[in-house]
Amino acid sequence: MTAYYFPIKHLHVTAVALSITLFLIRAYWSITGNALLQHRLVRILPHVIDTVLLTCGVILAAMIGPNQPWILTKIVLLVAYIGVGTIAIKRGRTTRGRLVAALIAAAIFAYIVGVAMTKDSTSWFSLL
Ligand code: HEM
Repeated sequence: MTAYYFPIKHLHVTAVALSITLFLIRAYWSITGNALLQHRLVRILPHVIDTVLLTCGVILAAMIGPNQPWILTKIVLLVAYIGVGTIAIKRGRTTRGRLVAALIAAAIFAYIVGVAMTKDSTSWFSLL
């Protein structure tokens, strides 16, 4: 483990917090039809944050050895979170569809945090 591990982990977790905060705000704006959603900064910032999140995650994974089931679980679920997230914010055609997608994306996110903290693919369920 190098001296860089903890700063990178800190950056990763900071990006995680910013990512879900921005996502929830944008999902709310998408459901309520707020024009702020089209603001340039609002459109670009999430991509910057999510790139930091993923890049730091990949570097951390490389440092501790990526060959662990819970890391693969996180990567797969991150793709699902992004996919369902775009339905909530962009692709969902009805308000109800967007709302349901936003709730599913938030649930996936909570599951991923559980995977990160327990280092187990069954996430919070491993604590039962
Ligand atoms: C939405 C997606 C993600 C969320 C919400 C998330 C969340 C977190 C959290 C909360 C921690 C700190 C856990 C602790 O308490 O120690 C963490 C650590 C970590 N994450 Fe992520 N993460 C995500 C994506 C990823 C991805 C895609 C990877 C790998 C490619 C990854 C790899 C790691 C690694 C290796 C650690 C360090 C584990 C440790 O040293 O304790 N994460 N993540």
